[in-house]
Amino acid sequence: MVINESNQPAGKKLVIAIDGPAGAGKSTLASRIARKLGYLNIEAGAMYRALALKAISTDTSFEDEPALMELAEQSNISLEPRLDGNRVLLDGQNISERLRHQDVTDAASKVSVHPRVREWMVAKQREMGQEGGVVMEGRDIGTKVFPHADVKIFLDAAPEVRGSRRFQQQNVPPQQEAAIIRELRERDKRDRTRANSPLEAAVDAVLIDSTSLSLDEVIERAEDIIANKLAARGL
Ligand code: DC
Repeated sequence: MVINESNQPAGKKLVIAIDGPAGAGKSTLASRIARKLGYLNIEAGAMYRALALKAISTDTSFEDEPALMELAEQSNISLEPRLDGNRVLLDGQNISERLRHQDVTDAASKVSVHPRVREWMVAKQREMGQEGGVVMEGRDIGTKVFPHADVKIFLDAAPEVRGSRRFQQQNVPPQQEAAIIRELRERDKRDRTRANSPLEAAVDAVLIDSTSLSLDEVIERAEDIIANKLAARGL
């Protein structure tokens, strides 16, 4: 076996972890990088959203961890990577569009605080990424799911900027902008302060602040980081 400077087998495809708060641009960045490298793009948040939707549709309390775990065990959540993001199937049904609605967004952040729910999700995410060749984005990918990921990027931006981006993506009346920013701040707070695997940058993550960067500039920076890693691996 050929071992290179990072003590990893040469030729093994990378695991790339992209973490950060909502609206920082993770999904766009992850899907562009995955497409370019021919890697799998996995949105961890979509799995929490799918469970949240199941809780909503079965009238299960977001606080009831045992009931949520029962739902998780009974559910078949699958992600099918596509050019424009993941297609998400819940028990065989395409729920990709429904997952973006505000009630699911809120609920996903609430169901994700429970340690057993997180353990279940993390195990599935590790399984999906175990062969390498994956760009996984979420909140705890570099800290918990793949603490030994080859590349860790923490993508952040000022809350007002992230809120405005979310508002622009959503084709809603201008009066709703303030509410969208407020919701985003609340979700951030919950994601960053939960006891179990809170959103935080891994100590060895490279921070990219996209507050005043264009998408192309963000992609360029991320690609530089990845190109260096690939070169070091002889890939
Ligand atoms: O990335 P997203 O907006 O689709 O994530 C929805 C919620 O899922 C987010 O508010 C918190 C949770 N989540 C998580 O706890 N850990 C992850 N790795 C990804 C998402």
